[in-house]
Amino acid sequence: MSSFNIVRVENVDEEKEDELLPTDDQGEPNVLEQSLGRTYEEFARYALHLYEYVQSLIETPIEDAPPLNFRAVLTRDLGFEKIFNFIYPTSNESFVHIYKGKMDAHGNYKVIEPRLPEEMSYLTGLVEEKFSLAVDEKVAAEIVENKEEVLKRIFESTVIPVAGLSGVREQGRTIFVSEELYQSLRYEIFTDKIGLGRIDTMMKDPYLEDISCNGLGSVFVEHKIFGSLKTNIEFLVREDLDAFITRICERVGKPVSRRRPIVDAALPDGSRLNVVFGDDVSRRGSNFTIRKFSKVPMSIVQLIKYGTLDERMAAYIWMMLESGMSMFICGETASGKTTTLNAVTVFIRPTARIVSIEDTPELFVPHPNWINEVTRRSETQTSSIELFDLLKSALRQRPNYIIVGEIRSREGNVAFQAIQTGHPVISTFHAANMQKLIQRITGDPINIPPTYVDNLNLVMFQSNVKNPKTNQLQRRVTAIHEIVGMDPVEKTYNFIELFSYDPITDKHTFRGIGNSYLLEYKVAPMKRLVHKDFRKIYDELELRAYLMKRLVEMKVEDYNEVYARISKIYENPYLTSMKVDDYSKKVIDKILRET
Ligand SMILES: Nc1ncnc2c1ncn2[C@@H]1O[C@H](COP(=O)(O)OP(=O)(O)OP(=O)(O)O)[C@@H](O)[C@H]1O
Ligand SMILES: [Mg+2]
Repeated sequence: MSSFNIVRVENVDEEKEDELLPTDDQGEPNVLEQSLGRTYEEFARYALHLYEYVQSLIETPIEDAPPLNFRAVLTRDLGFEKIFNFIYPTSNESFVHIYKGKMDAHGNYKVIEPRLPEEMSYLTGLVEEKFSLAVDEKVAAEIVENKEEVLKRIFESTVIPVAGLSGVREQGRTIFVSEELYQSLRYEIFTDKIGLGRIDTMMKDPYLEDISCNGLGSVFVEHKIFGSLKTNIEFLVREDLDAFITRICERVGKPVSRRRPIVDAALPDGSRLNVVFGDDVSRRGSNFTIRKFSKVPMSIVQLIKYGTLDERMAAYIWMMLESGMSMFICGETASGKTTTLNAVTVFIRPTARIVSIEDTPELFVPHPNWINEVTRRSETQTSSIELFDLLKSALRQRPNYIIVGEIRSREGNVAFQAIQTGHPVISTFHAANMQKLIQRITGDPINIPPTYVDNLNLVMFQSNVKNPKTNQLQRRVTAIHEIVGMDPVEKTYNFIELFSYDPITDKHTFRGIGNSYLLEYKVAPMKRLVHKDFRKIYDELELRAYLMKRLVEMKVEDYNEVYARISKIYENPYLTSMKVDDYSKKVIDKILRET
């Protein structure tokens, strides 16, 4: 099965057609005569189930929803409206209908797939039977090597489509079916054996952030553009749900059981799976959450563009990471901590040796000298390798930076030892504010002596903020703090909130020149600036902010491209020590354009 590259589908003509839509008396496009555009027609030509689905919608439109629209590609602005009605492809065969009418409390997410009709579902069993006849030892060995290819071969020799055939005919090892049944049968078998069965379309949907099933009932998704949506995928029977979960866990080699009810694993595409199994631990029955993984992480330029932070904050983090400062990115679950962590690693000097350690592979480091280590959990305590062990061994690998996916437990203590011995650390951490953070790092099980807290230099807080105008959830960095140290007499901690966020204006503010302890007392000395010249360090901040702003304007958004530009600046260190004036801006523009 070839996977369909959604980005390649041109949508331009469709936009033009939209303008020419026939309208009814109120000037609203008339849905019955509405053309859904060229891309829709191309898909519908062979995806009969899509065509039928759309026909049924044209006959019975969604109440109080805007006219139906087919989009090959979704854009962020579509999410500004409170009501919506779109269909988009997630592969050649699977589509998604998302809609919300005026009366709906919750947006809906409906999967459109070529599934077998209920009365034909026995066919999958029949195909399995024939398969078992076709699989001998040799084939079984091949399956291990190349499951998809072999499965395709066996399927094509077992099931034969016959145009116009009604019903099913069986002959020896072969089954003859109509073309329509053939498409559905192939879809059922492949999504079950290669994909993830009922949630396969959601797994393929590039616009989803999370898929969550909180027990019996509907599965919910978090959509990048339309927020939380209720899906038409449901688990109504406990045994069904448990069987589904058991299967995925077996697939990823982390079997779940009542004795071992909690599983944290990486799915084949890199997404993160969390399972709580059975009803002793979880009252509404088993549940699971999948945090979708995107292959190329979001870049710092995209984060600036989305307003997560501003260009001066990015410039500041750049100077901090260039100077070997240690930083924690804090915030609640799904506030975008890991995303920000991945985005800022481009600021570390390209020649640095970086060791990253984590429980589930989520970190992405573009540097050539990167060692990526992932913990291993096993039934017996002795063969498990924990973050704690990896971090201890990382110290012997002479890294210039250590990146820890998330610090939760006693590895936090080792992290502080690492910083102490000259190996800066960046990590994410669950804490809502400075007080909570300090409580947690000085308390059990991390147990950092209070006077050592200032080994950590920077703390960034991130949060999910609701935009009152669009109702969309937005990730915002809400503050960056510099830790100055503990006052041993007063037993209080000194820290400076250098950057803050105003939710009313949705803007970030900088405390201004003369307020950064780290720039003046840590970074400036490294650049051999004497204190009376401290202004120069703020000049440099402004120049880098200009540079980041230019990257946004030049739309250099791809993660690897951003890394390439930053690397270029590292190759020309004189650039960043220039005065901010028209000349230096011109030089910078030239270098950025040449890369
Ligand atoms: N700045 C951002 N703008 C838009 N979407 C974002 C942003 N940051 C993260 N996301 C999206 O939000 C989801 C959660 O992000 P991420 O995994 O980084 O959160 P997290 O805080 O590390 O969560 P957890 O606490 O579970 O580790 C991801 O699907 C990601 O694509
Ligand atoms: Mg995370």
